Amino acid sequence: MKYLVGNWKMNQSLEEIASFFDDVQTNDNPNIQSWIAPQLLHVGNCRILALDKNIEVGTQNISTNDSGAFTGETSPLAAREMGVHFTLIGHSERRSLFNENNELLNKKVKNSLKNKLKVIFCIGETLQQRESGETLAILKNQTLKGLSDITGFKDIIIAYEPVWAIGTGKVATSKEIKEVHAYLRDLTKEHFKAEIPLLYGGSVKPDNVQEIMATPNVDGALVGGASLKAADYNKLYNAMK
Ligand code: PGA
Repeated sequence: MKYLVGNWKMNQSLEEIASFFDDVQTNDNPNIQSWIAPQLLHVGNCRILALDKNIEVGTQNISTNDSGAFTGETSPLAAREMGVHFTLIGHSERRSLFNENNELLNKKVKNSLKNKLKVIFCIGETLQQRESGETLAILKNQTLKGLSDITGFKDIIIAYEPVWAIGTGKVATSKEIKEVHAYLRDLTKEHFKAEIPLLYGGSVKPDNVQEIMATPNVDGALVGGASLKAADYNKLYNAMK
């Protein structure tokens, strides 16, 4: 199974969304899971538009609680009621701009699984960490802490997104992706005894997706900018076939 996941971040007007779903073509391959995470206010609308497109809809963040006095938070229980399929957890923008640490992210993962949401758990090193040779240690720490004390892994996906490659046009080389994904495959097998799908993210585009997908242990792509327009999304999807 391969995964094409669009992270729309805080983008897309209603009009742009309508035009995306008019033009997107994603129904003809049972081996590709096609998912999109719109900003929260558009989740309900996207759910309806995605019904006959074979696209699953997710959230970009989730609460550690199901309900109660948590102004501004997103309940996984309510997400589930809305037919939400998955949530991103630990995207680098959440970690850096909203101070989300591994302990908090671990609670979010557990609460999502409890509510039967699939989780795309994002990890990644900064440029400074890469340059000082800490990449694998950082990824190990994020993975083991973020996914600690979890029993079933069938609803977990890991997305490796080097922070320096997100939104910069600077994609990691095949060699860099190969090294990290081989490491993550071994790490997750050893610690979790599970074959967890491993996605790559960070400046994935129609013209580099084929090479990235051909890298060993890459099961899919988490795509920001190039997932916004149906024309690009269709190209990514077709390249994955
Ligand atoms: P990008 O974003 O594809 O625009 O680099 C990826 C992401 O943030 O998930």
